[in-house]
Amino acid sequence: MSKKLNTNLSSVVALLNDGDYHDGTTMGDQLGITRSGVWKVIKKLENYGVKLDSIKGKGYAMLEPLILLDPKKIKKQLYANIDLVCFESVSSTNDYFAIKPFSRAIKVCLAEQQTEGKGRMGRKWHSPFAQNIYLSCLYPFQKDISELAGLSLVTSLAIVDAINQHGVSGAKVKWPNDIVYDNKKLSGTLIEVAAEAHGISYATIGIGINVNMVEDKKEISQSWTSLRKILNQYIDRNELCISLINNLLTYLQRFEAKGFEVFVNEWMQKDSLMKRAIALKVGNQTIEGKVVGINEQGHLLLKLKDGSTRAFSSGDTSIIKDA
Ligand code: BTN
Repeated sequence: MSKKLNTNLSSVVALLNDGDYHDGTTMGDQLGITRSGVWKVIKKLENYGVKLDSIKGKGYAMLEPLILLDPKKIKKQLYANIDLVCFESVSSTNDYFAIKPFSRAIKVCLAEQQTEGKGRMGRKWHSPFAQNIYLSCLYPFQKDISELAGLSLVTSLAIVDAINQHGVSGAKVKWPNDIVYDNKKLSGTLIEVAAEAHGISYATIGIGINVNMVEDKKEISQSWTSLRKILNQYIDRNELCISLINNLLTYLQRFEAKGFEVFVNEWMQKDSLMKRAIALKVGNQTIEGKVVGINEQGHLLLKLKDGSTRAFSSGDTSIIKDA
């Protein structure tokens, strides 16, 4: 079940953001809603996992600041006029587009929480409420599906650029779909494509970025980090969404016009695996080798133990620690 972002929720959070205690009646008066309306919002926040304290006679206080997504603010600062939808909760922002009829417009879906966030290789993507970015962009390409091979790499480059604009230097791409910092995962991309006749393809580009998540999560098996962990400060996700969407559109337009080859150099500069000994998992097989770059289709070039170099179009990479 999906829920659009509720204005009462945003207004209550805005009041509680000063960290002080607020009682239900006063908040209700300030917001023009009933005391029981306020109580419902408080319960909802608690169900979403937001930490609140309550003291009899004083009311409720939020233990940490919480800046919710503000779709109006985001839309105002985008270069292009795109359809933007924002959910309080949705199964998966990628799946939201799977049930929509195709249209030639570019669309973006954001959510505060995903109940069934999907990662690559059938993994789950942990998606706690209001902490990270969960974004999908439906992009119609005037290209055949076979020409979209480098799309996930181009998306990764756009994400690194957006992250760098927010004060992180040192975030790198990890073939094929990850952004890492200090070899810990910061962001991942899941792309799903569908084709229409006459060379039109639709890509749903799903991006997850760990932004303000700091607590250890047993649900996450990979070693991970977040922008807040790196910068040691709380990040306004609206600002990051604006740079992310603007960057993504710029990179996608260039990819559509020029193909992947114009991105090869930029990839090499931001590559975390270059010259590293890695293991590549393809299906049941694991291949070890040294990364020597990527080719013009975005395939990974591995120098194998027998001295030959082979290109791989898919797989999961991991650095061999003791190599
Ligand atoms: C991965 O690294 O395994 C890919 C993770 C992709 C997660 C994003 S979050 C937004 C979009 N919706 C999903 O269900 N998945 C992607």
